[in-house]
Amino acid sequence: MDATVIILAAGEGTRMKSNHAKVSHRILAKPMIRWIVDASLAAGAQRVVTVVGSHGDEVRALLEGIDGVECVEQAERLGTGHAVKVAIEACGISEGPVVVLNGDLPLIEPRTIRKFADTVAEGRAAAAVLTMTPPDPFGYGRIELNDEGQVLRIIEQKDCTNEQAKTLLECNAGCYAFDGAALAAHVGEIGCDNAQHEYYLPDMLEILRHAGKPVTYFHCNDFREGLGVNSRAQLAELTALARDRINARLMAEGVTMIDPSSTWVGPDAQVGRDTIIYPSTMIMGTTQIGEECIVGPNTRLMDTRVGNHSVIDETVAENVQIDDYVSCGPRAYLRPGTHLCDHSKAGTHVEIKKSTIGVGSKVPHLSYIGDTTMGANVNIGAGSITCNYDGVHKNATTIGDNTFIGSDTMMVAPVNIGADAVTGAGGTITKDVPDGALALERTEQRIIPGYTERKRARQQGK
Ligand code: UD1
Ligand code: CA
Repeated sequence: MDATVIILAAGEGTRMKSNHAKVSHRILAKPMIRWIVDASLAAGAQRVVTVVGSHGDEVRALLEGIDGVECVEQAERLGTGHAVKVAIEACGISEGPVVVLNGDLPLIEPRTIRKFADTVAEGRAAAAVLTMTPPDPFGYGRIELNDEGQVLRIIEQKDCTNEQAKTLLECNAGCYAFDGAALAAHVGEIGCDNAQHEYYLPDMLEILRHAGKPVTYFHCNDFREGLGVNSRAQLAELTALARDRINARLMAEGVTMIDPSSTWVGPDAQVGRDTIIYPSTMIMGTTQIGEECIVGPNTRLMDTRVGNHSVIDETVAENVQIDDYVSCGPRAYLRPGTHLCDHSKAGTHVEIKKSTIGVGSKVPHLSYIGDTTMGANVNIGAGSITCNYDGVHKNATTIGDNTFIGSDTMMVAPVNIGADAVTGAGGTITKDVPDGALALERTEQRIIPGYTERKRARQQGK
């Protein structure tokens, strides 16, 4: 697609009642602006120009480092028509197809953007607008057609008469394509004589038609693709629509979802076939799950990789690698930098941070393991922890293959425990343990016979 995309993201987003830019609000953990930028890039846009203004630094930060994406500042928010004028002047856009997208239009599909660009590229029209008939048209600009079914103009909700608001049900979705030369030549003609005293981009269609240029529209059969986000209620509504769209695709690809309505998978996550997802599960960011896994219930995975045949029950994991045949949870908290190798286990009420749990090694109950490298077939007894933080530094622990850590062992790092070693239950291990050794750290047990009977007698005053 040989087109420039301009994304309008400078608005105040007043109706969100937020301290943040509207387009920074997230849908399935991904900022709205990233949904639109990614759709534009997926459509094949050569250049994506984002107009920022209100909370501009926040929006710029969300777009930092993305190839082909640049930001332009709209210092004063004088309306969508003004925003486009600022962009084309700042970027010297004077030809070629230009697609303009409202920044609050997150569910727009790449193929729609491409179709739009093609219409003007092929010279069939100098401008095209995407339209839809949502169940509730309130707030949208309304399309007025002439008797031949051509676009006469777009009337904003606030400029509509009661009659127009009731009868003009075809709405402007906020996705436009323009011939760049026509846009550059006429954008300065947009006025602000309207209810909001703003320069309205939709006025461009009427202006170009008056200039004798062909103007057209595309009705979007699925209105959901064209919905905008102006309020928190709409944010929630679109989040649910995005969830349904992603879940439908995943189920079609062979993923089982016990309850799709409580299964939230982000747009950049992947799930392999025959994986079963239980209710109340969030699979976000760049998480990738392989085949034949069982995930959930009550699980949250962020930027995590899971191999095949693993079971992840009531687990929270971020930036973690989980290999094949691993068992997690219920109630495991896996923090960044953790790697669970094949056939390993992170069990119940277990927290693991920045550690490798070797092949077949198990941390089954009530443990904290941090900054640890563990070999294969290690067993960590219940309640054992690594004391990795001395108040200043995070220190490392190593544990060799086949070692058995007795229950309630405190491993005071830095410490190295060899292979085939054993630590006795209740030990505080402060010195390295050689291969094959038993480390015991325990005061001798004393036995005081008849204690209970004497105590009871004392209490009863005998
Ligand atoms: C706009 C359209 C309306 C359409 C609807 C679709 C106009 C005048 N109206 O209305 O016809 O039905 O979208 O959702 O365009 N923005 C700027 N600079 C500004 C003003 C706005 O960058 O000076 C950005 C906003 O950040 C937003 C987008 O433009 O992302 C649209 O603005 P918004 O105020 O949401 O317009 P709507 O009232 O929804
Ligand atoms: Ca809007």
